[in-house]
Amino acid sequence: MTTSEVAQALTTATGEDRWVDPRLAELARRAAARGTVLLSNDGALPLATDQPVAVFGRVQVDWFSVGYGSGGDVNAPYTTTLLDSLEELGAAVDPELAATYRRWCAAQEPPVEEWGNWPRFYPEMELDDAVVTATAARAATAVLVIGRAAGEDRENVLEPGSYYLTAAERRLLAQVTGSFERTVVVVNSGNVMDLSWAAEAGVSALVLAWPGGMEGGRALAQVLTGVLEPGGRLTDTIARSYEHYPSAPFFGGKEFNNYAEDVFVGYRYFETLAPDTVLYPFGHGLGYTTIDLEPTGLRHDTETATVSLRATNTGQRPGSTVVQVYRGTPGTPGTPGTPGTPGGPVLPRPARELVAFTRTTELAPGAAEDLEVTFPLDRLASFDDSGATGHKDAWVIEPGTYPVHVGASVRDTAEAGRLEFADLVVVEQLAEALAPDPAHPFERMTLAPGADGPVVGWEPVPTSTVDLRARILDHLPEPITPTGTGGTTLDDVAEGRATLEDLVAQLSVDELAELSYGHVEMNSPLGAPGNAGAFGGLIEQLRARGIPPVITTDGPSGIRLSAWASLLPCGTALASTWDPPLLEQIAALHGAEMIRKGSDVLLAPGMNIHRDPLCGRNFEYYSEDPLVTGLCAAAVVRGIQSQGVAACPKHLACNNQETERIYNDSRVSARALREIYLRGFRICVQTAAPRTIMTSYNKINGQWAHYNYDLVTTILRGEWGYTGMVMTDWWMRYAPDPLFPALRDSATRVRAGVDVLMPGGRTWDSTRAEGHDDAVLSGYDPQDTSGEHLTLGEIQRTALNVLRMAASTRALHRARQQAERQAERAEQAER
Ligand code: BGC
Repeated sequence: MTTSEVAQALTTATGEDRWVDPRLAELARRAAARGTVLLSNDGALPLATDQPVAVFGRVQVDWFSVGYGSGGDVNAPYTTTLLDSLEELGAAVDPELAATYRRWCAAQEPPVEEWGNWPRFYPEMELDDAVVTATAARAATAVLVIGRAAGEDRENVLEPGSYYLTAAERRLLAQVTGSFERTVVVVNSGNVMDLSWAAEAGVSALVLAWPGGMEGGRALAQVLTGVLEPGGRLTDTIARSYEHYPSAPFFGGKEFNNYAEDVFVGYRYFETLAPDTVLYPFGHGLGYTTIDLEPTGLRHDTETATVSLRATNTGQRPGSTVVQVYRGTPGTPGTPGTPGTPGGPVLPRPARELVAFTRTTELAPGAAEDLEVTFPLDRLASFDDSGATGHKDAWVIEPGTYPVHVGASVRDTAEAGRLEFADLVVVEQLAEALAPDPAHPFERMTLAPGADGPVVGWEPVPTSTVDLRARILDHLPEPITPTGTGGTTLDDVAEGRATLEDLVAQLSVDELAELSYGHVEMNSPLGAPGNAGAFGGLIEQLRARGIPPVITTDGPSGIRLSAWASLLPCGTALASTWDPPLLEQIAALHGAEMIRKGSDVLLAPGMNIHRDPLCGRNFEYYSEDPLVTGLCAAAVVRGIQSQGVAACPKHLACNNQETERIYNDSRVSARALREIYLRGFRICVQTAAPRTIMTSYNKINGQWAHYNYDLVTTILRGEWGYTGMVMTDWWMRYAPDPLFPALRDSATRVRAGVDVLMPGGRTWDSTRAEGHDDAVLSGYDPQDTSGEHLTLGEIQRTALNVLRMAASTRALHRARQQAERQAERAEQAER
């Protein structure tokens, strides 16, 4: 097959195909509604559709359906706006005001900007006071929409128009709240922004409408009018002001970023050390009814604990809620988690940690449901990176009594019972890995005893004592003895006639090395136009063995191609549903769309932790909490992969800011890595087995993720048992190997266990001449058995991972079908 024949065969998407599976659109709308968070409501919502409502703010027309960059750049076949959708539902929207906004917006189209310069907000239309008061004479209720967007390479900033309101928005807010009986404010944003103004302005209801994809406007209209309930619960804490976030003093560093708040991220910090600085707590969100959650028991066996409870709808409307289960900390009441207090643990621990959650079914008014929520006891464990418990580098459950709380947010809970541990339990003893570089020590947050409970203390972060060079040399993989040429194909492997090892033994070193590079460009001619890149069977010799090119596409909110594709609710919207089964259903339909469009690997889900509200890509990610992140990602991966195509969770790990993301060094303790930043990935890997994973651009404790042996080989593959393929984020940084002078660039990458450079093959480093990256071959020396050079076993290991992935995807099926079709055609031609 020539390259163009492959392209011809594999290009299934055409620019004209606008068809969207109606089941996917329906579920996307339900998810967008279920992810909408009602933060406060004095009864103004739901709107009565027969009562006039005046809608203010240009975002009602210029709606933000998604954020910017690779995670947002989807050719949606359609989008929906709030104004159109309210009218579509028959809401009594004030026609005069609506016409004014439509006219003005048509004349002031939002600017289309270059990559990384996208608008964070759209300038607001100024209205005369007389217009507002005249409108208020026609309607008692106003809805005011405020919109924000950020994205890849586009951080939020502490400026009006990003984290803060603009002067025009403030003026409009004052005009509307001053004239209307009730003002409902909708914030349509992918990020948490400052919300302190809402209470000051006396708004009647405040709604967070995350970018909800193509059905987002329609979903919100249905929520506002009560067709659907606002089902969302916060997956992040909203602080009273930005300065209250524990990451605030450290976020945004250009060269490096000390994760000094350590495990005290989000509610783990706020609930333990600064409860008064919280505006809306983690897990908070209202529905249109009230559901009482009453714990009825707690039991456990040696592996799991089960909370039982009764959920009763005590309100007037049908509705559901999220049941959240948190562990408390042993210690003196009032001084949770203070090391050194009587009965307190040795390790400083957040006062609350989420250990499980579920959703009730929809309950009719007065109806009740008995529920059980089971969680593994190891969710009570902490990671000891200092040896304070006597078990360095182990997950341990310290002795003591652990209260288990159940409720509707981290604050709104009742105790379900207590779990007693008489002795310390070592859940898992690991080897030290990925600790901070002793050359860059820093102080990390801990708990110190205070008069009224714990206060912030600081302690030196434990730094690395590992001889990484020796670790790598001790674990070099055994080579598979080359057998020279033979005719084994990937089909032979897939059908059990040969093993992957047989195939690898027949490949030349050049062919093996080829497998570790993607196609040199994005938009590979081997795949559907607009793809993100290809890997696998990129050269004729490999394709002759039935190894197909594997086509990747972005991303978390939809398939990014030069073709129409469904635009789904963003990651934060999906997570705010707290409904992994719903996410899995959506992802399965999305996987089916991948097959129709010609995508083998979706570069999703985005799994980085919401460490700070200013991170531009937070909309793609799920939460400040790793359990929410891990369970949502696992559901998405399972759904996508149920169709035979592959997911690619990203970015492993600590891509928590966009500022200098490709050079920045995330300096973070081994404990915070295990408990916060890696934990979601671990859950996803161990419960959903993604076929690929993408490393991040940034460094972690001094080494880029794509060169990071401890991250990829010691932890991901060794500790978690990952057997899939690992790829870089797009165009890794080039650098000499710090430990092996004969190696650099892709040789270091392959040694670390990162299988494929994406898109691949080319050196983009300004300090080096542009050209083909041949570091794998130039780093290989068949005569050298010392390990100073790349070994055959390492190059083969990479090839095995790539081939295993290729064999397991739809690409193989598609290539097979293609061959069958060709054979048929040839037969017909002969006849
Ligand atoms: C992003 C990835 C994305 C890739 C391909 C990179 O810039 O960080 O998330 O998948 O580009 O578009």
